[in-house]
Amino acid sequence: MNSVVTSNIRRSIGDILVATGRLSSADSSVIMEYQRQHQIQFGDAALALKLLTKDDIDFALARQFDYTYLGQEDTSLSPDLVAAYKPFGAICENLRAVRSQLMLRWFNTDPLRKVLAIVSPAKGDGRSFISANLAIVFAQQGQRTLLLDADLRTAPGTGQKVLFKLGKSAGLSGILAGRAALEVAASPVPSLPGLTVLPTGAVPPNPQELLGRPEFGQLLGSVAQRFDVIIIDTPAGGDYADAEIIAARAGAGVMLARKNKSLLPDVTRLAGRLQEGGVTLVGSVLNDS
Ligand SMILES: Nc1ncnc2c1ncn2[C@@H]1O[C@H](COP(=O)(O)OP(=O)(O)OP(=O)(O)O)[C@@H](O)[C@H]1O
Ligand SMILES: [Mg+2]
Repeated sequence: MNSVVTSNIRRSIGDILVATGRLSSADSSVIMEYQRQHQIQFGDAALALKLLTKDDIDFALARQFDYTYLGQEDTSLSPDLVAAYKPFGAICENLRAVRSQLMLRWFNTDPLRKVLAIVSPAKGDGRSFISANLAIVFAQQGQRTLLLDADLRTAPGTGQKVLFKLGKSAGLSGILAGRAALEVAASPVPSLPGLTVLPTGAVPPNPQELLGRPEFGQLLGSVAQRFDVIIIDTPAGGDYADAEIIAARAGAGVMLARKNKSLLPDVTRLAGRLQEGGVTLVGSVLNDS
């Protein structure tokens, strides 16, 4: 397991904010002088002088502790990736609690357990949203994380390719058809160290047949050697058998339901089908919004 590397020599909050263009060197000097006079922390001095906001200080603290997230001005990813943009919000608190449970119940129990499929009965339950943000919180914890988009039913303009604003067209379907290599199809996310995304690639006419090929199992075996955590986005489990095939290959899944939308009988039926297929349901998430 990758551990977060911490350094004894941390950059100061002022240096981080100057380096990222949030503070001028002149203002940094003014804050340090005020800090020295009043014997207070740099952040408190900056707030007292109204030269920085609480957001700026949270940002710098996160950088100081190797905890990566993005400022609102960074538009390289979709704003739906709340774990990247608003890591201190309620959704992300909940996702970190889910992460802890999954570490305890699954990933830490056996070194071979690395893959989890995120499943739910219906379209729009938030599987893509939750799998993307969950993958980000795992990467923020220092895990080498792969987010694999196996929703080969995805409509154009949706899915992980759009959330992560990926330019290239290669992806999972190309690998399964033997036309692309993982190195070409997968994209590391430069602004989120530790996270790699494998988009769907061109939507094929025969998703189920492709996912049923031995190549999918081989792909999971080979990515398990390079990553600590592999999160798989799936299509609606009530509509297609794809999710069952994917979760059976993964060995484990997390059941997602959306508040005020998902129907309990649909969730129970899908859970039953998955368990019959030998899938361990490690946990469940109630998507709140
Ligand atoms: N917790 C949430 N907070 C805010 N918006 C959310 C949340 N969960 C999902 N959404 C929004 O709901 C919509 C549907 O979510 P998403 O695309 O993740 O669902 P899905 O289950 O992957 O659907 P599909 O069947 O189309 O793949 C998206 O616009 C997403 O941004
Ligand atoms: Mg989706």
